[in-house]
Amino acid sequence: MYQSFSSDVLVVGAGLAGERAAVSAAQAGQNVIILSLIPPRRSHSSAAQGGMQASLGNSAMGKGDSPDVHMYDTVKGSDWGCEQDVARMFVNTAPIAVREMSAWGVPWSRVRNEKRMYEGTEIVEDPEKVGLITARNFGGTAKWRTCYTSDGAGHTLLYAMDSVVIKLGITVHDRMEAIELIHDGTRCYGVVARSLRDGSIYVYTAKTTVIATGGFGRLYAASTNAVINDGAGIAMAFNSGVVPLGNMEAIQFHPTGMVPSWILITEGARGEGGHLLDKDGYRFMPDYEPKYMELASRDVVSRRIMQHIRAGHGVDSPYGPHVWLDIRHLGEHRINTYLREISTIARTFAGIDPVKEPIPVRPTQHYTMGGIRTNKDGKVYGLDNLFALGEAACWDLHGFNRLGGNSLAETVVAGRIVGEKIAEFTKHATLEVNSALIEEHVRNVEGRIDQIRSRGKNGENWVEIRKEMQMTLELNVGIFRTAEHLQEAVDKLGNLYERSLNVGLMGDGGQGADPELVNALRLPGMVRMAITIAKGALERKESRGSHFREDYPQRDDQNWLKRTLAYWPEGAKEPDLKYEPVTITEIPPGDRGYGESNVKK
Ligand code: FUM
Repeated sequence: MYQSFSSDVLVVGAGLAGERAAVSAAQAGQNVIILSLIPPRRSHSSAAQGGMQASLGNSAMGKGDSPDVHMYDTVKGSDWGCEQDVARMFVNTAPIAVREMSAWGVPWSRVRNEKRMYEGTEIVEDPEKVGLITARNFGGTAKWRTCYTSDGAGHTLLYAMDSVVIKLGITVHDRMEAIELIHDGTRCYGVVARSLRDGSIYVYTAKTTVIATGGFGRLYAASTNAVINDGAGIAMAFNSGVVPLGNMEAIQFHPTGMVPSWILITEGARGEGGHLLDKDGYRFMPDYEPKYMELASRDVVSRRIMQHIRAGHGVDSPYGPHVWLDIRHLGEHRINTYLREISTIARTFAGIDPVKEPIPVRPTQHYTMGGIRTNKDGKVYGLDNLFALGEAACWDLHGFNRLGGNSLAETVVAGRIVGEKIAEFTKHATLEVNSALIEEHVRNVEGRIDQIRSRGKNGENWVEIRKEMQMTLELNVGIFRTAEHLQEAVDKLGNLYERSLNVGLMGDGGQGADPELVNALRLPGMVRMAITIAKGALERKESRGSHFREDYPQRDDQNWLKRTLAYWPEGAKEPDLKYEPVTITEIPPGDRGYGESNVKK
């Protein structure tokens, strides 16, 4: 027995991307239901700190900025791995989206008439611009372009967006997990879901289904991501057997995850003028990257930190070596005004007051550039009537390295662009309810649950398998990669996958909501994705953006200017990898301008 609901548009995921797309459909008069694991205002979007990029050019240091400059930074940042037609739409729309969010209530930080020093230089703002939306410096950008609300940009954006969702009367079913797509191999009709309140099964059918469930950072042992970011929505699409995932090997490591909780310490801290110091208190980044220092692209800074640690300059700790992020010189007022969230985080989770002490940091998994492959309208490859956007999707704005501030921007920009495409598509789509197909998918889900329950304590332990999976990715598919370690990861994960198909429950039976059952049910999908990351990385015999192969340290445009597409056919033990060309419309591959290191290898 199950309850069912129908709508014009079904959005799975209530973060910024999902909610923004839902808003477009609702504004077009469509009936929308959003499903969410948690109350929307707790979505991981709220954890974004530093801000979103949009080329407003209001601050003195953003003067002369334009969508063209933003475009160049984004393409160069992606190491020429992104879709340039997507990047063009994105950079042109970002200034509109930032102002729209302002109209919807985001209290953006503004240009102020105050004396400000930055790296020894006084910044003098144009009096004409005082009161306009300002921007801060972020890595890999030619101009200061990251619009912010102190260091809580995700929080303010999500609260504003969710208020619009409420105002439009959009239905949200929270604590509801989509488990399986209802599809016939060519079209998607909705999802089978399970209530996280009481474990009952629901069926949602829709003219158009949208996946916006965020990324999959929690496949790694150390991640800045929330615990809900385990890729369940992406796995659901992958499990269909006909939807490919793009560039799963493109994993981003943020230079400054706080040791040992791995909570994000925003790039805004370095954007405000923070420095990275080693065990001797020495500022090392100017030696490695004399031009960009702490604000080279994220992939570059992460590698430089690890290189410096490998050379023996890290600070020893029970959690492994780390470096320091020092913002003391910014002064109490600036720290407690513009970096107040990280101040609170450092005090609460590490017992450190950053006004007085440096913060222990190490590069930490942060973002996944890959995901459900879509075309530039957000339509998913392989299944009709299915769209995806945000971090769950490989649209593909970021290629092999996303610029800081382009993720929050993507949520609201793609939400707007893809949301309009969804509304247009849905206008002409029909709602089809094929009872036999629905029954088949419900039986599938119930069968999976029953099997796990019936194995009980005789089944494999999902906690152990998940931990081993996370450690395998952490140790073998990290910042520096080699064939040997990647092959070891593929082999280990293959074995874990076999075991994950036989998981049981250590507790008492999986009745009702049972969080243990929730995790056991997700596990095989997670391990499939983990193998896909490792296999994609093993096959890609070059270095591009965040994918750095020590055995192939150069980018190889001749052979690898292409996107990985991974399929998981029914019954397979490994993904089937195919490739497609990257769309280059404006900027031919060139040099990123890093690596003028003064440090001997
Ligand atoms: O460092 C940060 O505030 C993160 C920003 C981002 O990932 O875009």
